[in-house]
Amino acid sequence: QSATVVLGIESTCDETAAAIVRGRSLVSNVVASSMEQHARYGGVIPEIASRAHAESFIPVVSKALSDANMTLDDVDAIAVSAGPGLAGCLAVGVSGAKALAAASGKPLYGINHVIGHIAVTQLQFGDFPEDVLALIVSGGHTSLLHVQDVAKHVDVVGTTLDDAAGECFDKIARLLGFPYPGGPHIDRHAQHGDPHAMHVPQGLTQGKAAARHPYDFSFSGVKTAVARWVEEQQALGNEIPIDDVCASLADSVATVLARKAIAACKQYDSDTLIVGGGFSANSQLRARLIEEGERHGIAIRIPRIALCTDNGAMVAMLGVNLVDAGIRPSNPDFGIDSAMP
Ligand code: KG4
Ligand code: ZN
Repeated sequence: QSATVVLGIESTCDETAAAIVRGRSLVSNVVASSMEQHARYGGVIPEIASRAHAESFIPVVSKALSDANMTLDDVDAIAVSAGPGLAGCLAVGVSGAKALAAASGKPLYGINHVIGHIAVTQLQFGDFPEDVLALIVSGGHTSLLHVQDVAKHVDVVGTTLDDAAGECFDKIARLLGFPYPGGPHIDRHAQHGDPHAMHVPQGLTQGKAAARHPYDFSFSGVKTAVARWVEEQQALGNEIPIDDVCASLADSVATVLARKAIAACKQYDSDTLIVGGGFSANSQLRARLIEEGERHGIAIRIPRIALCTDNGAMVAMLGVNLVDAGIRPSNPDFGIDSAMP
């Protein structure tokens, strides 16, 4: 069992986070969010987020080390998200991590944030089965991935052709008057609504396009259909049945995500599905995946909510995997990649 110690640093979007992982255990985990500063704008403002990272970087990293009773001398390596994400935000985390690595002489790994969402599940469920499927859903990405080796080989099986699931929720939430991020508000209201109250299309599930893209997703049509309906009702002066709209939307999105993920598991002969990303905190999706998993004999590994949303533990965990796999650290001059594939 690995005893590698890694300090992980995350700054792709609105969370400045740092954590220490030793082997498969989480030693400390600190998250500072600038979410409240963006709420009234209806979305993350990159300039505000970057500045918040600059302010929080040293306090957050210092707390992650002190909570673990460690100094930089005690870590084997440092890992930082190098992409995908907001360029100005990534630049703060990566520059800070480079400074820490230069000062301490520790090796530095620039990692892919999306793969971190997969890696983090090891903290709760242990090592990956060989050749496993993963569904990563968040505000920025919706992907089905085939994980042969989390440190070395991950292939894309499917992805969204337009909006990410979280983005779709956030945009409709804004229309319904909820502050950013709206996903959790839709989740809460959906719990009191009728999921069959209104018809919400299920993107990319029927017809030729769906046959050509069996494991891809499309949520922009879903977003447009719900938005148009809400705007029509508003124009007519009708009261919007918010709970029912939320429940119908959540049902449509959860159904498509679960159905395609389970179908991909069968295609790839994976008896386990790894789930991650901020949107996997969604209760309708969690319930649907567990239900479908039981029906099809597929074990669903969805981590607790604190590990689903952006955090430093995901970065540190992937860092441990890279060190243990004998992967060389990144070049000292590695850059950020806001559109990292
Ligand atoms: O992974 P994450 O923290 O950041 C990105 O990398 O994008 O995901 C944030 C996204 C937001 O769109 C947010 O609305 C959504 O995850 N989200 C939820 C829930 N909790 C977070 N969406 C639906 N239901 C939730 N309970
Ligand atoms: Zn994320």
